[in-house]
Amino acid sequence: MAIQLDCLVAVLLAMTSPEKNPFIIVAIDGGAASGKSSSSKILAERFNLLHVDTGSFYRHITYELLRLKVPYSDLPALRAALARLEFGTRLNGRSAQMLIGGQPAGDEIRGQNVNEHVSHYAAVPEVRQALLAYQRGQTDVAQQHGFRGLVMEGRDIGSVIFPNAEFRFFLHADPAERAKRRAAEGRQDSITERDRIDSSRKTSPLTCPAGAIDIDSTFLTLEQVVEKMAGLIAAELK
Ligand code: CDP
Ligand code: CDP
Repeated sequence: MAIQLDCLVAVLLAMTSPEKNPFIIVAIDGGAASGKSSSSKILAERFNLLHVDTGSFYRHITYELLRLKVPYSDLPALRAALARLEFGTRLNGRSAQMLIGGQPAGDEIRGQNVNEHVSHYAAVPEVRQALLAYQRGQTDVAQQHGFRGLVMEGRDIGSVIFPNAEFRFFLHADPAERAKRRAAEGRQDSITERDRIDSSRKTSPLTCPAGAIDIDSTFLTLEQVVEKMAGLIAAELK
């Protein structure tokens, strides 16, 4: 009995010891249709991570502000509207789903209207500021639900949200290849225009941060991209 108890204690310690199982953050940035969501979801599954798609947060806010008829150019109205938004989170499988006023986003956030407006709203510093603490707080959500860490994808994760993340990847691919990928999904998307606005904005522009691992996926399959990332993570976690 004494031996069994010792074993139990050892197992519990191994499970909870921060040295043995440190919380890890994987940041994945890149342009539209570069493969962020697909690769993040697979990594989340493989390493028991919470998947956080920050693009869906910007899309949800954009949808809400369009619904409230608050233009991105009307700063006072935008500030007032943002101050009234209440954010929450619920889990959808391994993914964090943002709630605004208790409601999850619908499929409309992937539609043409949001595609055309999201980068304009995302370029406004007040919009980015409104999401900053919420995004960083996803580490608490991950910990509360027993994940080993989180994989967060977006445009400024490795540069602004988690510059000290254990793993920072930047995905890029030829724009023509990315347009082909979106079309293959049957989705209409102005990816070149969004990339242009996202890369040229003053606050938190889309850029490969110094020290991040840059992966060109133009001629790689999704599986090859994931193997590169997973190999680096697994090697470090050993
Ligand atoms: O899936 P896709 O790469 O096409 O876009 P997304 O990740 O859903 O992001 C939609 C838009 O949100 C981007 O074009 C950016 O304007 C904005 N975004 C951002 O500014 N910062 C982030 N961390 C994530 C998204
Ligand atoms: O999240 P993001 O907008 O960066 O891209 P995604 O939605 O993950 O990927 C867009 C599409 O490209 C998906 O259908 C992927 O299966 C496909 N794809 C890819 O992500 N990576 C490759 N190397 C090849 C194709």
